[in-house]
Amino acid sequence: MKMRLILLFLVCFSPISFAKIPPRLFPSSLDDQLSSKGKLSYETNYFTQILDHFNYNNPQTFQQRYLLNDKYWGGSKNNAPIFVYTGNEGNIEWFTQNTGFMFEIAPHFNALLVFIEHRFYGKSIPYGGDKTIAYSNKTTLGYLSSTQALADYATLIIDLKNNLTAIDSPVVVFGGSYGGMLAAWFRLKYPHVTIGALASSAPILNFGNITSPYSFNNIITQDFKGESENCYKVIKGSWKQIEDMAKTKGGLEKLRKSFRICKNYISEGALENWLYTAFVYTAMTDYPTPSNFLNPLPAYPVKQMCKAIDDPKSGMDTFEKIYGAANIYYNYTGNATCFDLNDHSDPHGLAGWTWQACTEMVMPTDGNNKESIFPPSKWDYNERAQFCKLIFGVEPRPNWVTTEFGGYNIERVLKRFGSNIIFFNGQRDPWSGAGVLKDISKSIVAIVAKEGAHHVDLRWSSKEDPKWLKQVREREVNIISNWLSQYYQSLNEIY
Ligand SMILES: *[C@@H]1O[C@H](CO)[C@@H](O)[C@H](O)[C@H]1NC(C)=O
Ligand SMILES: *[C@@H]1O[C@H](CO)[C@@H](O)[C@H](O)[C@H]1NC(C)=O
Ligand SMILES: *[C@@H]1O[C@H](CO)[C@@H](O)[C@H](O)[C@H]1NC(C)=O
Ligand SMILES: *[C@@H]1O[C@H](CO)[C@@H](O)[C@H](O)[C@H]1NC(C)=O
Ligand SMILES: *[C@@H]1O[C@H](CO)[C@@H](O)[C@H](O)[C@H]1NC(C)=O
Repeated sequence: MKMRLILLFLVCFSPISFAKIPPRLFPSSLDDQLSSKGKLSYETNYFTQILDHFNYNNPQTFQQRYLLNDKYWGGSKNNAPIFVYTGNEGNIEWFTQNTGFMFEIAPHFNALLVFIEHRFYGKSIPYGGDKTIAYSNKTTLGYLSSTQALADYATLIIDLKNNLTAIDSPVVVFGGSYGGMLAAWFRLKYPHVTIGALASSAPILNFGNITSPYSFNNIITQDFKGESENCYKVIKGSWKQIEDMAKTKGGLEKLRKSFRICKNYISEGALENWLYTAFVYTAMTDYPTPSNFLNPLPAYPVKQMCKAIDDPKSGMDTFEKIYGAANIYYNYTGNATCFDLNDHSDPHGLAGWTWQACTEMVMPTDGNNKESIFPPSKWDYNERAQFCKLIFGVEPRPNWVTTEFGGYNIERVLKRFGSNIIFFNGQRDPWSGAGVLKDISKSIVAIVAKEGAHHVDLRWSSKEDPKWLKQVREREVNIISNWLSQYYQSLNEIY
């Protein structure tokens, strides 16, 4: 069986069929949940941004969206701080909704909150906001890069501070996932614009060959195996059974029935991709409380999946067991009548990541050794390169990120050079294997939570939060307080 998938932060696509298969998402009910909390409030602004920061011949601009909340701000007279979220590969409102931490700590710090949308996502689309033009080809997409995005953030923050006459207000940047990588890199590249960065679940070491390409799936394997050995074995064994069944006459129809797949479309590859997506994203969002980041999920969804698999009621029927697990990821609300393998909806606007993955974001993650819960496979750069050539006509630059931002020997490099970065990682998160897991210096610190998942620290708190999560957030608040005290102290020093 050959199952080859390229896993990006939030988008899967299969180079075999060359069909992009993004995760299927149910309409989000998150907005309702949060407005009842009454804390999520912001105004929407647009800033005229330069399209090409690095070429003086190009006069084009675009409208960049940013969200602002000044309810808690102590004002420019007090040099009150500005907390900026460095937006990632999707609609900024979605990340804002999932970053309650900033809203919850803003009153304590009297901070202004700013959430900046990444270019080419959400409503921050160049070429007059026309997505079909902006995404047409490599000429227009060429302006979608991390370096341009960081320059956008610097330009916008400096302009905003001027407008607010808040020149001396310290800026702290926050981000999760790719947004966390951007936050860390922003601190390293623009130390005159930000005093510190909280980089949550930022796999900045998933480039070149710094991190093993088996790390990602090894962690997923451990997540399920740690829950129950039987759960791991059933999932591991299911791929071959699906493959064998698909080969038999009428096999696909049997699979359709077992997995409640809609009538419109089924193939072995699409079914496997659909299951793979469920396991990967459930591991990533294995939060200790009910959540709705990618899909609505119960608390500890990996445990729930394994419960479904271990359920004696499903007897020895592997497909029934695996269906039960998938049903937790795809049908927790209980509303699905059937599962549509051809549903390519993209409610959070994540499609631009495919371009980024084909240019600079070459993150080897899809190796599977023989212990893996997924079928064995090797990370194959050439496969990625072929795919990118075919759909965009570009050749990736796998060494650009480590050239531009570093990564090799990070301890040695940053020990005496950098400062004021928190790297948070939850070890249940498959991306954590490529995060910074050890303190680099007194002020570049790693916070590692054994039971944590993908940027869980940035989420809204809840009464049910476990103690370790409360402690992580307390520690982050303390560290940020220290950065600010040191900043104010140096502001008052007379030279
Ligand atoms: C790329 O797309 C733009 C905008 O749609 C178009 O003007 C241009 O001709 C295209 N370039 C190529 C090389 O196809
Ligand atoms: C700053 O003010 C100018 C003039 O009103 C405005 O055009 C610009 O968008 C503002 N900058 C930001 C970041 O909002
Ligand atoms: C690491 O990557 C470099 C360049 O991409 C390559 O030359 C080298 O052989 C790789 N090392 C290993 C151990 O794979
Ligand atoms: C979704 O869950 C509901 C409630 O448990 C169930 O009745 C329904 O059959 C499920 N849908 C699918 C497609 O399995
Ligand atoms: C699912 O069903 C619940 C009631 O069981 C309803 O409140 C909710 O809006 C439905 N969600 C979707 C996405 O249709």
